[in-house]
Amino acid sequence: MSSVLTDLFPHPIVQAPMAGGVSVPQLAAAVSDAGGLGFLAAGYKTADGMYQEIKQLRGLTSRPFGVNLFLPQPETADPAAVDVYAHQLAGEASWYETELGDPDSGRDDGYDAKLAVLLDNPVPVVSFHFGVPAREVIDSLHRVGTLTFVTATTAEEARAVERAGADVVIAQGVEAGGHQGTHRDLPETDGGGIGLLSLVAQVRESVGIPVVAAGGIMRGAQIAAVCAAGASAAQLGTAFVAAHESGAHALHKQALTSPLHPRTELTRAFTGRPARALVNRFLREHGPYAPAAYPEVHHLTAPLRKAAAKAGDAQGLAMWAGQGHRLARELPAGQLVEVLMAELAAARTALSAGGAR
Ligand SMILES: Cc1cc2nc3c(=O)[nH]c(=O)nc-3n(C[C@H](O)[C@H](O)[C@H](O)COP(=O)(O)O)c2cc1C
Repeated sequence: MSSVLTDLFPHPIVQAPMAGGVSVPQLAAAVSDAGGLGFLAAGYKTADGMYQEIKQLRGLTSRPFGVNLFLPQPETADPAAVDVYAHQLAGEASWYETELGDPDSGRDDGYDAKLAVLLDNPVPVVSFHFGVPAREVIDSLHRVGTLTFVTATTAEEARAVERAGADVVIAQGVEAGGHQGTHRDLPETDGGGIGLLSLVAQVRESVGIPVVAAGGIMRGAQIAAVCAAGASAAQLGTAFVAAHESGAHALHKQALTSPLHPRTELTRAFTGRPARALVNRFLREHGPYAPAAYPEVHHLTAPLRKAAAKAGDAQGLAMWAGQGHRLARELPAGQLVEVLMAELAAARTALSAGGAR
């Protein structure tokens, strides 16, 4: 692993930040204590909500951890398309006995306020999703001793991350659960996502900074594979959704390995930006015509998802999951890190012994 990273965490395992209440402080603390890098997700939280979670996490572990921010999104949505989608969702609102949300509830996710908190109360790592922060932002975080990670989904995006001065690029393959962290949401490139092994090799040859690989990784042997392809560490989301400490809804955890949800798809149905979720009724019905309108569609559907969660209806939830979801294991997070490390060691031994089984 690159020394920038080994100084922070000994095992090449990053627990992905997972917005929507999944990567709670207890999960991040358990991963960091086990020698990985735990992450909090500030997305959709207020700056103060993020600060309270950081304080809670600091009370649970003295090990390094990260905080993830969403970049503000440009105003590209067609308001008429959002209106049409709102009409198409009217039946859902009456089914769940709720109102649709206001699509114009804000598009910057409190970015500046969160950055101000992170500059006043520095954390070891800040990562960014949905774009590249300005060089001044990265420089200001460096001045307070914070390392910066930025997601990229292509070699071109990875080069932009390096040019901006970030320390680490997270290469996110199309297999990944949750939102694709593409720097610009271009509907014309839908369906053109790159698989993780191809992406890691391309990114490795495009930039000089360390690469963290994300997407579909559920076993130690896959960590060995991405490290052999040039990554310094692996970032796992779905594997940790199932962990005991994860804040995911119980239905989401169960669905990962349920025969009722054998597949995932990239969909705009829940938020207006492509995100990989377990296929359920909501995704099947609304995915085909959901507009490219993030975060408008996120705000619009938020009350529906809340009501579905309250009603215990998995068919209306956004159950983000990567393509490896069937391999999820319900373990305490620290134990999951240990198991992954044992699998990684076994895979490396097999590789160095000449490998074929
Ligand atoms: C439930 C869930 C929520 C996620 N939320 C975020 C987030 O808030 N910020 C972020 O950078 N990535 C987020 N991701 C994407 C992860 O960072 C990572 O790319 C992905 O989990 C890797 O694929 P995997 O889930 O197959 O391991 C999320 C993923 C999942 C599964």
